[in-house]
Amino acid sequence: MARGINTKCTNLEEDEQSVKNYGAISYPIYQTATYAHMGVGRSTGFDYSRLQNPTREQLEKVVASLENGIDAIAFSTGMAAITMMMELFKPGDHLIVDSDLYGGSIRLFHNVSAKNGIEFSSVDCYKEDVESFVKENTKAIYIETPTNPMMNVTDIAAMAEIARRHDLLLIVDNTFLSPYFQNPLDLGADIVVHSGTKYLGGHNDTLAGFLVTNREDISEKFRFLIKTVGSGLAPFDSWLILRGIKTLGIRMERSQENAKQIAGWLKQQKAVTKVIYPGLEEHPGHEIMKKQARGFGAMLTFQLESKEFALSILEKVRMIKFAESLGGVETLVTYPTTQTHADVPKEIREKNGITEATLRMSVGIEDAKDLIDELEKVFRETEQELYGGKKS
Ligand SMILES: Cc1ncc(COP(=O)(O)O)c(C=O)c1O
Repeated sequence: MARGINTKCTNLEEDEQSVKNYGAISYPIYQTATYAHMGVGRSTGFDYSRLQNPTREQLEKVVASLENGIDAIAFSTGMAAITMMMELFKPGDHLIVDSDLYGGSIRLFHNVSAKNGIEFSSVDCYKEDVESFVKENTKAIYIETPTNPMMNVTDIAAMAEIARRHDLLLIVDNTFLSPYFQNPLDLGADIVVHSGTKYLGGHNDTLAGFLVTNREDISEKFRFLIKTVGSGLAPFDSWLILRGIKTLGIRMERSQENAKQIAGWLKQQKAVTKVIYPGLEEHPGHEIMKKQARGFGAMLTFQLESKEFALSILEKVRMIKFAESLGGVETLVTYPTTQTHADVPKEIREKNGITEATLRMSVGIEDAKDLIDELEKVFRETEQELYGGKKS
């Protein structure tokens, strides 16, 4: 019988494994680099931890099951996962990539992969005619949905159709929603990317990345590559992510609930010119999200009326932390201009709508009232300082 996602987060179906481990409920950390053989040709199935390690393997099985994939590979970071994935392509290949992506992915594509002879077209996949960018040498479409940080929502099934028609891979970075809210492989994607540092880990205490696929041929290529490039996740970090995943469902629900309340509060502020949260009915991607995801997540972006207002918020927050990253239990507010998207050229940032008055918030699981109380205080103090109470 198919298990629900919260059960999948806490239990793998193969109970035999836990019996093998003396019944330990918490999967053991196999802190070993290598493995003894009882004779020639008698491997335990594990030979060297660059190739595979039992703790990492356990985590990979859990993530594959959450994404309904046949294989998942755990990496030291999300960027390590994306970097290895780029080894599927060769000089002369062309990729269609969303224009609004995590800044590190943009940096990798345009400053590293391009140097290796791979061509890119940056396309607003949520609104442009993606098919018109397909060329003879196009090999893949790469999207995030919602995007980081502008929260653009792309129709995954529509992208999958284009990919099928032209024999392209569809690659979806699912970091912002996590497998709890969205499963791109079920909608026709071939590869799912995660920064496991975010919701999967969930506690802002370790880094990780994942590639998940439901295709045997891609899984085989990934397995060859991981043993070759060696950027797999270490045993202790694998255990931390395994532990984080156990509470994925309740964290996602709780932080989404808080995000809805904060989005509502922000909308009432005169100093906020725009709140971009797909859970709001006016968000252009709201209906698509309802169709392709089970929730709207806990990431939101908002525009302040001035750079000064935005900077003042960053200076004043205390319980809410001014920090990069997202997806942890703590609420973080990020300044894309100097943090996550600092290396994206200013003209591209501006084209995507990221200005010096844009803030991104990853809403955590604290009490919503405390978060709103702090925002209330920070906004009122800023208004007082900037306008002497005259305007807001
Ligand atoms: C959407 C997205 N993908 C990938 C990454 C990269 O992940 P990592 O920081 O684990 O390398 C990030 C990091 O912020 C991200 O936001």
